[in-house]
Amino acid sequence: MKPKSSCTEFTGYSLLCEQAANDDRIFETFRNRPEYTGVVETVNYSTGTEYLNIVMSQSPEFADVFEKFKSTDKLGNPKVYEYLYGLFSPTTLRYIKVLSDLKNYFGSLNGMKIIEIGGGYGGQCKVISDLFEFESYTLVDLEPCLRLAKKYLDKLEVKNVSYCTSHDLTGECNYDLVISNYAFSEITRNVQDIYIKKILNKSSRGYMLCNFITHGTQINSYTESESINLLNNNIWALKGKPPLTSSDISCSISLLLWGIRGGVALLKMSGGLSIAWQYFLAVSKSKLGIKRSLV
Ligand SMILES: C[S@@+](CC[C@H](N)C(=O)[O-])C[C@H]1O[C@@H](n2cnc3c(N)ncnc32)[C@H](O)[C@@H]1O
Repeated sequence: MKPKSSCTEFTGYSLLCEQAANDDRIFETFRNRPEYTGVVETVNYSTGTEYLNIVMSQSPEFADVFEKFKSTDKLGNPKVYEYLYGLFSPTTLRYIKVLSDLKNYFGSLNGMKIIEIGGGYGGQCKVISDLFEFESYTLVDLEPCLRLAKKYLDKLEVKNVSYCTSHDLTGECNYDLVISNYAFSEITRNVQDIYIKKILNKSSRGYMLCNFITHGTQINSYTESESINLLNNNIWALKGKPPLTSSDISCSISLLLWGIRGGVALLKMSGGLSIAWQYFLAVSKSKLGIKRSLV
């Protein structure tokens, strides 16, 4: 039997992705099925409200884009609720909040080469495409999930997207931004090593929400400090503060960031400086002070 590369492979999730990619009737409702609501479509109504509140205070200019964002929920029949800007899946509000963070930390994403590890059905990619024209967007995931993502993104006519598994990566490309939310930190070390070498250390900017839940389990991913030490960039690890939500905080999620514009000044504005600074010092120390400060 093929060894499993992440905790999602212990569930019926990738089988459902396969079925939804092949069968239009399953595709029509994939985001409402238990195999999917247990892994990707996980956000509840009240956490959705929290995401929306952050977006409204951080990116009020998004008010004009909500009609576009809404089309994200046209496919797959996700559970939607009435919010200030109309009916939304709370998980889509999470993607919009991540987009707001990305704009806040990195500025415009126009013309960027973006890569996302573990991008699910492509919801984050779709929402980014509503606001920015990236040069390319590479989704890296398991084969059946990529086929589902291609079906979803093609139907919504999202352009310049390519799809690859860990085996397809050549390591010859550099990227302007890597994103990996609740994914890189759930993968086995041998596959993480591939991603570190061929993606993370070849990306000038990074935004990764990490749960580090599999450390000590059969999957045994790198811990937070091991991950930070393996990365070449100056990493800012935010924990327990905005822009993380209360559910992120209760689940001990860390936001690993690098390549942010404005460095410390921006983190100070978002309330993350003290924690980020502690982590930065920790990283510098473990590298014997070789690392350069962002300021
Ligand atoms: C918890 S989901 C997160 C999905 C998406 N990032 C989001 O925020 O909604 C984890 C994702 O990682 C993907 N994944 C699992 N094993 C992987 C691997 N070896 N390489 C890349 N992605 C993987 C899963 O298929 C799934 O799409």
